[in-house]
Amino acid sequence: TPPQQIRNFCIIAHIDHGKSTLADRMLQITGVVSDRDMRAQYLDRMDIERERGITIKSQAVRMPWQVDGETVALNMIDTPGHVDFTYEVSRSLAACEGAILLVDAAQGIEAQTLANLYLALENDLTIIPVLNKIDLPAAEPEKYAKELADLIGGSPDDVLRVSGKTGAGVEDLLDRLVQEIPAPVGDADAPARAMIFDSVYDAYRGVVTYVRMVDGKLSPRERIQMMSTGANHELLEIGVSSPEPVPTKGLGVGEVGYLITGVKDVRQSKVGDTVTNARKPAAEALAGYTDPKPMVFSGIYPIDGSDYAELREALDKLKLSDASLQYEPETSVALGFGFRCGFLGLLHLEIITERLSREFGLDLITTAPSVIYEVLTSDTGETVTVTNPSEYPDGRIGSVSEPMVKAAILLPKDYVGTVMELCQSRRGSLLGMEYFSEERVELRYNMPLGEIVFDFFDQLKSKTQGYASLDYEPSGSQEADLVKVDILLQGEKVDAFSSIVHRDKAYAYGTMMAERLRKLIPRQQFEVPIQAAIGARIIARETIRAIRKDVLAKCYGGDITRKRKLLEKQKEGKKRMKMVGRVEVPQEAFIAALSGD
Ligand code: GTP
Repeated sequence: TPPQQIRNFCIIAHIDHGKSTLADRMLQITGVVSDRDMRAQYLDRMDIERERGITIKSQAVRMPWQVDGETVALNMIDTPGHVDFTYEVSRSLAACEGAILLVDAAQGIEAQTLANLYLALENDLTIIPVLNKIDLPAAEPEKYAKELADLIGGSPDDVLRVSGKTGAGVEDLLDRLVQEIPAPVGDADAPARAMIFDSVYDAYRGVVTYVRMVDGKLSPRERIQMMSTGANHELLEIGVSSPEPVPTKGLGVGEVGYLITGVKDVRQSKVGDTVTNARKPAAEALAGYTDPKPMVFSGIYPIDGSDYAELREALDKLKLSDASLQYEPETSVALGFGFRCGFLGLLHLEIITERLSREFGLDLITTAPSVIYEVLTSDTGETVTVTNPSEYPDGRIGSVSEPMVKAAILLPKDYVGTVMELCQSRRGSLLGMEYFSEERVELRYNMPLGEIVFDFFDQLKSKTQGYASLDYEPSGSQEADLVKVDILLQGEKVDAFSSIVHRDKAYAYGTMMAERLRKLIPRQQFEVPIQAAIGARIIARETIRAIRKDVLAKCYGGDITRKRKLLEKQKEGKKRMKMVGRVEVPQEAFIAALSGD
């Protein structure tokens, strides 16, 4: 297809504003998916995506659309909407010339609407503003058309109104895409340069790599080269998704499609990398390749220790399709053998743990999420990178710095006071406040990431009855008065409960954990002190009183089968006991203490 007959676009929206539903409707109206085959959210292939209604991995589809008797190939590139996947969003955007800015006509602009819009503007995309869900009785298109026009310039009349559900306005939208989005430009005679915007592992075909051609041409059977690593592969298949894969004789300037080389690991085909011809490589890669870095770390342990090997296998499998997932073996006194895992953010963590339990049937326990601390020890003058509180250096500490983020929170003005209090209590410093309309306000804060991963989003939602939305981006690191609080059972450290917290919050954390454990750990034959400590200094203490446990005392009379059953049960329970020094702790107690139940 010549570039003049191609339009590459994506849909950017806040979560739940209806991106997938609209995409489905477009597939149906352009006829690439028959009504019969239509199932809700065709593009969200992973079960977990469909169930949770979120888009994790981007996909591309080619749809034919006729305007003025000419057929144009519309390439729709689906982008993930969540902050954790900003890097993937920005790569998908870089593959397009235009973007539909989709806003729920009953909700208005939200935090991710803005974050994605700014990314699109950085990529010089033509923005087509669209209000969705106009069929809803609660829709207020007039009001939000004005909000959108104020945000991006132009008149409220230029804002299209559609319903992904009923299909109203969708044909007009397709026409507008062809008319307003510029056709791609590139040098057809130059060595090939194609940007990888997604890489998906397929159990049958290996890695399927989605690319946007910028210059030149790629053809089947030729050798291609990944510019970041120099790795060479034979191109076994090249084609377009429509939305099922259709092999073609090649891809030229401006086209969007997929490549298959037979590699089995997405790390060999990285999002953001440039593909070129191996025989005649391009001199320079396309801009913008970075390795996404994990920001949030957590220990993942099988509840049943014998599942360890299975857990490793499951992580290996997930890694094939998710290059950003990191893990290494770790052992814990309280939890046994497991893995320390690095994630892009909290949602990423949730998705991975959910996939592990759902797709691999594993029962897991995850430790409280932690961020990356840089600890300067004053004894040796070394800087230690700590992603696990139990690795925190013991000697004297010079300084500790923690990762910071710029957070943007959009909320109705009635909640401004409550949310400011919450942000203050999380050590946020206010950067700015802006009114988007009479009742909607944006608050911008500089805040430690460590405070955000600790249950901030849930607090924000519950304090605003679900009306606030949050987006954040890394903004370097900052020194802070942080300490490690250890929890000790009869003088023995329980590693899974060590936590790095601000000095002002150390006491509260210590007493909370000590109290929790006192309630959860059964009495022993001797007294057990539970202490919270910063280094050698005890900051809180609880005591589990001694008891002589005699299960048989509860049985009256001589019902021997009942007695035997009780003894059996007690033995069963013992198997799951962990020893911390001399103290026997049922694993359930650790799990409950970690999950805060
Ligand atoms: P993410 O993939 O998480 O970003 O969500 P999304 O933006 O793809 O939203 P999705 O298409 O899953 O829609 C979210 C909810 O809104 C679903 O319950 C849809 O049924 C509903 N919805 C989407 N479009 C419309 C619409 O035009 N009208 C009405 N009434 N509901 C809609």
